[in-house]
Amino acid sequence: MIFSKILWSALAAVASFTTVASLPSSPVYVGHALAAALGTTPCPVACTPLTDYRVALPYNMFPNGEHCCEMVQVTYHGISTDVRFTDLFMGAVNSQNISLSYEAFELLAPLEGGAIFPVYWQFVSS
Ligand SMILES: *[C@@H]1O[C@H](CO)[C@@H](O)[C@H](O)[C@H]1NC(C)=O
Repeated sequence: MIFSKILWSALAAVASFTTVASLPSSPVYVGHALAAALGTTPCPVACTPLTDYRVALPYNMFPNGEHCCEMVQVTYHGISTDVRFTDLFMGAVNSQNISLSYEAFELLAPLEGGAIFPVYWQFVSS
């Protein structure tokens, strides 16, 4: 009985430590997501492996391609998908708008709409 109590509190301590350690640390941005918008340019580094599930992020937030090739979690109406940051969105200056590849956009909403809002996005470890 005493042993199981000690074991239980040890497990609880491990569980709460795990919870603290896994708190998301990167900020969450919100903007419109467009489907393969015009005005994107590839990151200064080529991201490998190549993937169809890509996102272009606002150029002014990453003027030197910071964070290029990292994974970004994009969420719309409770649906999340992880995409790779491969392009800079020149047309999104001074917004948190993003441009998704058609393949990625289609996982969140039908292509016909062309743009969706609000879309939450944040860097996640790949
Ligand atoms: C963000 O995207 C929306 C939808 O396309 C657009 O109306 C808005 O002007 C964009 N904002 C900026 C700053 O580009």
